[in-house]
Amino acid sequence: MTTAYLNGEFLPLAEARVSPMDRGFLFGDGIYEVIPVYSRRPFRLDEHLARLQRSLDAIRLANPLTPDAWRALVGRLVAEAEWNDQSVYLQVTRGPMAVRNHAFPATVTPTVFGLVEALVTPAAELCEKGVAAVSAPDFRWLRCNIKSTSLLANCLLRQIAVDAGCAETLLLRDGILAEGSASNIFVVRNGVLLAPQKNHLMLTGITYDVVLELAAAHGLPSEVRDITDAEVRAADELWLTSSTKEVLAIVELDGQKVGAGGTALAGSPRDMGTAAGLPGPIFKQMYGWYQDFKRDVMRCG
Ligand code: PDD
Repeated sequence: MTTAYLNGEFLPLAEARVSPMDRGFLFGDGIYEVIPVYSRRPFRLDEHLARLQRSLDAIRLANPLTPDAWRALVGRLVAEAEWNDQSVYLQVTRGPMAVRNHAFPATVTPTVFGLVEALVTPAAELCEKGVAAVSAPDFRWLRCNIKSTSLLANCLLRQIAVDAGCAETLLLRDGILAEGSASNIFVVRNGVLLAPQKNHLMLTGITYDVVLELAAAHGLPSEVRDITDAEVRAADELWLTSSTKEVLAIVELDGQKVGAGGTALAGSPRDMGTAAGLPGPIFKQMYGWYQDFKRDVMRCG
């Protein structure tokens, strides 16, 4: 039976109840985190808790727990779960209100919820073959750096991919790559890793930061800057990253094979190995670095 946490209590998930007057339910007035856990060790927990704090600050909600209390909460959920590899979900909403009113209530009692699920990282076959994606104009708001539970736009955007039989929707705003509907996106061009800038138009992923750190540590040149729609279409490689998907190659975009853009230069990494429509050589390197890094972190704590 799955154990959940709700407002100070650990209880079976099936018994957890919140008020229908909760602002999380009525307004999506809340924030959340998803933390991967490998062999019962949370990965990058401090960074996730720091982002949770930034999201709370952005919605002007005081953190109901101290960092130590969050760590203890996560520790207990992880210890009680049946799986070794887990995905911990944490959510804080502005809590229940007496009457429906958009303005913040005078007295706020936040609702704190925690849940553990089995971590299902992409199957080996997906890692070897990659996934297909579509693109769409980003019609979300201008505070995408907040990890908000108001995810209707993200859900609508993800469904565009699902309806097309694809794994993810790449979001473009005014011709510039933002991110995926629930992931960050990287582009490889002529041996250089390109990453969209951290700003209010995207969520800075914890995995995004790990990938940039690994690139620096292994001498892979990277640039963090605006990436145009044209550069996305001419990419040698496209990747998506998230806490649950880790690093995954996108091998097809809007029906076109990635790496077949006709712009691959002689001597570019694409020219030296993998065919278009398959995960590229730099992806394979990064995938290996990521798995090694995970193993080292889990071994050393
Ligand atoms: N989502 N951008 C968006 C819009 C996301 O929803 C996510 C992750 C990311 C990647 O962030 P991270 O590397 O910290 O997981 C980027 C989580 C997994 C989710 O909503 O389930």
